[in-house]
Amino acid sequence: MRIDIVTLFPELCDQFLSASILGRARAKDLFEAHCHQIRDYTTNKQKQTDDYPYGGGCGMVLYAQPIADCLREVQRQCAEQGRNKPHVVFLTAAGKPYNEEAAKRLAGYDAVTLVCGHYEGIDERVIEAFGDEEISIGDYVLTGGELASLVVADSVLRLQPGVLAEEKGYQEESYWDGLLEYPQYTRPEVWEGRAVPPVLLTGDHKKIDAWRAAQSRTRTRLRRPDLYERWCDTHPVTDLPKWKRGENARLVKTGEQMDRAAALFAEGRRTVCAEICTPAYLAAITPENMRDLLEQERRSGWAFYLHYTGGEADAMVGVCHQTGEISHLFVTEAARGKGIGAKMLEFARKKLPEHPHPTLGVLSTNIRAQALYRRMGWRPDGVLHVFDPEQDPTATVYSEELRFRYDRA
Ligand code: ADE
Repeated sequence: MRIDIVTLFPELCDQFLSASILGRARAKDLFEAHCHQIRDYTTNKQKQTDDYPYGGGCGMVLYAQPIADCLREVQRQCAEQGRNKPHVVFLTAAGKPYNEEAAKRLAGYDAVTLVCGHYEGIDERVIEAFGDEEISIGDYVLTGGELASLVVADSVLRLQPGVLAEEKGYQEESYWDGLLEYPQYTRPEVWEGRAVPPVLLTGDHKKIDAWRAAQSRTRTRLRRPDLYERWCDTHPVTDLPKWKRGENARLVKTGEQMDRAAALFAEGRRTVCAEICTPAYLAAITPENMRDLLEQERRSGWAFYLHYTGGEADAMVGVCHQTGEISHLFVTEAARGKGIGAKMLEFARKKLPEHPHPTLGVLSTNIRAQALYRRMGWRPDGVLHVFDPEQDPTATVYSEELRFRYDRA
């Protein structure tokens, strides 16, 4: 790959591309980089590169002509090497936001030319005439496009074969798969009283991989909910965990089963409501009250199922054949992390074959559950209920009960 940078500070850019990992790769000819001085292409005596903006305003605007002539020279050099016409990117604060996906896309070109603006901007006409795209590296304004062009060059060049020592290096890193990177540790084992997470010292790579994957998901969920939502949508749960021996789901029929369902329901409801309801409301979520509620719901057409592991009921779900709703999906604290919630949701959905689009409700604060539902093909479909402390004395913070519907073909 060939990268050209068109700039007023070619030495600065060149120095960066000659240092560290990129410098070593460049010396090995794993890519070619050329930094061009815009000033060398001026045609006026003073070698002036900019002028006042038409229409007034502060700052100076880069002339179109020297940039255009420089880009023509880059095109000529590429043609001479038998390369394709370079893909021309202008770095401006008004460009499209840059991300790893764009880096991957740019890494596919044989030649990319990065044009750095300065001062107040670049004459729009040269962007129109030569630009294939405009990129911004973030919602802040830099004094020039040099740092931005180096950010783009770095993120693109590191994807070139051989640049990183281990190909695996970049696959595991942040954004590659849409998730943030898990935390890393090196020696010593205990630093200033802080120990390395014990799982990393076990040598059990299956366990370590699972821990790292969970850390990546949790970090992304907490720090970048936007990325997490996208990741959930693009990473469906394709193989649900198999039902194990001694594991089954049974319809709640007996009084004893109803008691167990009410206890589970109370535990589950208290957990999900803990963040958003008053202590008085939480205190009223007792197995006795929940049993009354379940009995009432059963009379109006709901059926409840308990999940058993070795004879112990550790999860529940409710389905309503009249309406196609699924509700009360709870797994006890001790039984979490084993895929029981996913199995019970799938079980409940299959109980409703007459409904092409079953629905369920989930609190907006319950991000974990939403992630699972999204990954299982459920999609948000409106708001069922609003909990607003201004209007609802049992609510402590604003939240919503979101409706999800099953949408996979
Ligand atoms: N030039 C000035 N600010 C910029 C930004 N945020 N991204 C790219 N180029 C810029």
